[in-house]
Amino acid sequence: MRHRKHTLVIAGAAATTLLLAACGGGDSSDDAGSNGGGGGEGKTMRVALNQTEEHPSYIALDNFGAYLEENTDGWGIDVFPNETLGAQAEALQLVSDGSVDMAIVSGTQLENLNEDFVVFNLPRVFDDVEHQMSVIHDPEITGELYSSLEESNNFTVLGGFTQGARSVYTDAPVETPADLAGQKIRVQESDLHIAMAEALGGAGTPMAYGELYTGLQSGVVDAAENNEVSYFTQRHYEVAPYFSYTNHLVGLDYMIINTDLLESMSEEDRAAFDEGWTAAHQEHTQLWADATQEAIEGAEAGGATFSEVDDAAFAEPLEALASEFITTDSQQTLYDAARAAAR
Ligand code: GCU
Repeated sequence: MRHRKHTLVIAGAAATTLLLAACGGGDSSDDAGSNGGGGGEGKTMRVALNQTEEHPSYIALDNFGAYLEENTDGWGIDVFPNETLGAQAEALQLVSDGSVDMAIVSGTQLENLNEDFVVFNLPRVFDDVEHQMSVIHDPEITGELYSSLEESNNFTVLGGFTQGARSVYTDAPVETPADLAGQKIRVQESDLHIAMAEALGGAGTPMAYGELYTGLQSGVVDAAENNEVSYFTQRHYEVAPYFSYTNHLVGLDYMIINTDLLESMSEEDRAAFDEGWTAAHQEHTQLWADATQEAIEGAEAGGATFSEVDDAAFAEPLEALASEFITTDSQQTLYDAARAAAR
């Protein structure tokens, strides 16, 4: 059984617990009765997502679920959008303890658990989406990294979805870092990204994604940075109408899954799961360009203005972050492998 549309808007830990109880959370048996009595051990997996149902990540995950239903013995996916299972930091804990099965979490969240992940969160490590996808789905580069949290946190990284290029937005056009002087820029919960806000000319204020609209509206922060798709689907253009193309970073979302659950799949179902996941991230990449274009048009229709920046003025401070944040041999190895794969 799959529920394609969730309209629940529930916030806070208590509500999450209630919701999980209602969904059979914490029970690793087949909660959806979907194995048809044929001896299969599959279940409908709950996936935590902080995006809307229009976002490419929701669409690709929902189609992944349909693929699993057709090609496995009882496995499926139920996507919970809009942080209904909690913001990313919370979702990550829930996947660790098995009360949620999978989550899409930004790379910044994983940097706080294993500092090697910092490498792929750096400005300018990836030239574009294609380069990023080729690196992060190359098991020779990422194999050890993706299994590194299995022992300590009981989840496995499967690969990821692009966040596209991220740029700044505020209530006036930005051309150089000086235009962001004195501005509080909302960043993800990451030391690197706090430093990145300084490199962009402002000061970093970490905040969960779902709080940002109100943060901008109330003036708790003055600016934010994200891709056009988030800018539009989260309606941030209503409260920060100038989007300036700093293109400081090609961001990355990871797909994580509870390791015990992953290891419980039969060999055949695991093979189908891997195929379905590959198709899902490929579909996501294909959807991304169109979604970006639609987001630009939608935000413009809502009053937003997009403008170019003085790239040279941002280049040096952003590039300096790599030498500051790469401090170990393993980080350097990942960085070199990523750069070697650039065209
Ligand atoms: C993007 C990304 C999310 C992330 C968000 C953020 O939308 O896809 O995973 O949480 O940026 O800035 O927090």
